[in-house]
Amino acid sequence: MTATTLKAVLPDGPSSPRLVQAVRFAAGRRRTMRRLRARYGSAFTVDSLNLGRMVMLADPAEVRELFQTGPELADTPDANLGSVLGPGSLFAIRDEEHRQQRRLLTPPFHGRRLRAYESMIEEETRRETASWPEGRPFPVMPSTMRITLNVILRAVFGAEGADRDDLRELLPAMVKLGSVLAVVPAARVELGGHGPGARFRRYRQRYDAAVDRLVDRAAADPGLADRDDVLAMLLQSRYDDGSAMSRSQIADQLLTLLAAGHETTATTLAWAVERLRRHPGLLHRLVAEDDAGGSALREATLIEVQRVRPVVEMTSRQVRADSLRIGRWTLPRGTVVTACIALLHDDETLFPHPEVFDPDRFVGARTDAGWIPFGGGVRRCIGAAFATLEMNVVLRTLLRDFTFVPTAERPERSHNRGIAVAPGKGGLAVVHRRWTVLSNINEHRYSDIDANDQAA
Ligand code: HEM
Repeated sequence: MTATTLKAVLPDGPSSPRLVQAVRFAAGRRRTMRRLRARYGSAFTVDSLNLGRMVMLADPAEVRELFQTGPELADTPDANLGSVLGPGSLFAIRDEEHRQQRRLLTPPFHGRRLRAYESMIEEETRRETASWPEGRPFPVMPSTMRITLNVILRAVFGAEGADRDDLRELLPAMVKLGSVLAVVPAARVELGGHGPGARFRRYRQRYDAAVDRLVDRAAADPGLADRDDVLAMLLQSRYDDGSAMSRSQIADQLLTLLAAGHETTATTLAWAVERLRRHPGLLHRLVAEDDAGGSALREATLIEVQRVRPVVEMTSRQVRADSLRIGRWTLPRGTVVTACIALLHDDETLFPHPEVFDPDRFVGARTDAGWIPFGGGVRRCIGAAFATLEMNVVLRTLLRDFTFVPTAERPERSHNRGIAVAPGKGGLAVVHRRWTVLSNINEHRYSDIDANDQAA
C-alpha cells in the first residue's frame, strides 16, 4: 500500500440512484451484498446515503491489507458517535489519543482479570433463567439482553444495589435513542425541551450523575485496589505522563463499552439458541461433552455461530491520505472503505460449504484470517475476549440447566436492530428444566421398579 497521490482506481458497482441503493440495503443488507458480489466480484463500489461513495471489500487479502493499514492513512469514518457517546468515546477519537485510551482500556479485558467474571456471569444467567417458562415457545433475546446488561453493569460499571437498578432502567432506552441519533443527526431536534434531542440530553445528565456517584464511591473504597470492575481499574490507571483519566473520559468510555458490548453479545447468544435448536445431534453432543468436563465443541460452536450469523456485518475505515492503494484499487482521500465481514464468512475458498452450519470445522483448528466477527487492526474489538468468555459461560449454564426442544421450523430471518443483526423472532426457544427431565426419568424408572416388584 502507498500513500502518494495516484489516479483513482475504484471497483465497479451499481449506477442506480443513492436512494434506491439505500432502500435495497435497508431491505436486506446481506442479501444485497451477496447479489452485488455475484454481479461485480469480490469488490464493488456503492453510494451510501450517510457515508457517500463506499468501496466494499470481500477479498480476504484486501481486507487483511485494509486492517493492516495504519490509522494515519485510514481510520474510522467521521461519524456522529462522539455527539452520542461523548467526545472521549473510543469510537470518536483517533491517533495518539486513541492509542493512549486503548492502552488503558485493554488490561481489564484480558487474562486473569477476565476469569474473575466467570462465576458472576453464571449467577446472572441463573437469575434470569429462573423464570423461564417450560414447554411453550418464547424468545430468548429479552433474556440474553438482560443477562449481558447486568454482566456489564457489574463487570464494567462495578454497580450494585440502587445504582445498578437506576442504570438498568436508564441505559437500554438511552442507547436505543442514541443509536438512532447517531445515524439520523437531523432527529436531534429540541422542541422546547420535548424533542428526541432534549430527551437524550436529559438521559445523559442522569447518566453522568450516576457515574459520578459510582466514581465517588469507588474513590472512597478502601478495597479499590482489589476490585475487578473496569471503572475501578480505570480510576487507578495512568497515562504515559502519569496523569489520571478525567471523570468525563471515564463516563464516555463506560458508555462506549456498554453500547458496543451489550447488544452484540446478546444477539449472538440468541443466534446460538436459534442455530442449536435446528441441530439436535449437535445439542446432544454439547451436553455430553459438558457432562464429561470438555469444552472444545462448545467453543467451536460459538465460533461457527459467529461465522454464519455475524451480528456486525461490516466495518469501515475512511481514507485520510491523499490516496491509498489497497490490492487492486487506488482510493482517493475521503473514500469510505468497508470490510464485508458477512461476505468473507461465506466465502467458499475460506470455508468449504459455507452454507452448512458445522462447528466441527473449528474443533482443534485455529480461526482463519477470514473469520473476522470482531474486525481487525488497531480498531479490533477491545471486548472480544470478554464476549467470548461471556458467551461460553452463558451457553454452558443454559445447557447444564435446560433441555432445548429441537425444531424443524425454517431458520429465523435476520432483523437489523441498528447496532446488531438479530434473529427475527428473537431466537425462539422451547425448554424443559434438566432436573425436571431427570426426575421424570427417575420417576419412570422407580415406577418400573415398583411394577416389577409387584409382579415378583
Ligand atoms: C459478540 C460480541 C461482539 C461483537 C461481534 C463485536 C464486534 C465488534 C466489531 C466488528 C468492532 C469494530 C472493529 C473494527 O472496526 O475493526 C468492535 C469494536 C469495539 N467493540 Fe466490540 N463486539 C462484541 C462485544 C464487545 C464487548 C463485550 C465490548 C466491551 C465490553 C466491546 C467493545 C468494543 C469497543 C470499545 C470497540 C471500539 C474499538 C476501537 O474503536 O478501538 N465489544 N466490536
